[in-house]
Amino acid sequence: RWLIPPLCLAAYLLGSISSAILICRLFGYPDPRTQGSSNPGATNVMRIAGKPAAALTLAGDVLKGVVPVLIAWQLGLSATATALIGCFAFLGHLLPVFFQFRGGKGVATAFGLLFALYWPIGIMTGITWLVVFGIGRISSLASIIAFLVMPVTVWYWLPGAFWPMLLLTLVLLARHHSNIRKLIKGEELGFRKSRR
Ligand code: G3P
Repeated sequence: RWLIPPLCLAAYLLGSISSAILICRLFGYPDPRTQGSSNPGATNVMRIAGKPAAALTLAGDVLKGVVPVLIAWQLGLSATATALIGCFAFLGHLLPVFFQFRGGKGVATAFGLLFALYWPIGIMTGITWLVVFGIGRISSLASIIAFLVMPVTVWYWLPGAFWPMLLLTLVLLARHHSNIRKLIKGEELGFRKSRR
């Protein structure tokens, strides 16, 4: 039990490493927080720097969710504690201590922790994301719908993780408030830099 607070702190620090900002720097692009949707995430890196940089960003952010959860499972912690530790990686991505606390929306990191918590939950959430994206071609809408469905699958497959994951969902939806506003107005960007 005493392991939980230090693991939460370590997960927060890992989550604070923003793949989007570092990869844009590495490839010589401007800070993603100043371009497109201003979000340091794979979707916005796609707009700014294209597919390879976006794929690297996605992989880096997913790993931030996977690693702490796998470690917690290995240590034999409960589903609740493991999910909580994963949530701290998510929190680090949102409020990164290394980047003025101006982070992203947490979708990729949340996917990582879902896959590591119990892979069928990750698959179900991923399929929902892909189906909605396939219909609308809008990343934020796919994320919003996929994470509205996610707590239901957690309740079914891993009830011990329900409360931390419900909290994660509420925070993730709150982080998408500007996307929700744009979706309602019909002004959401999708993967394009601007609307056609
Ligand atoms: O992964 C974040 C996505 O849901 C929205 O990103 O850049 O369109 O605000 P963005």
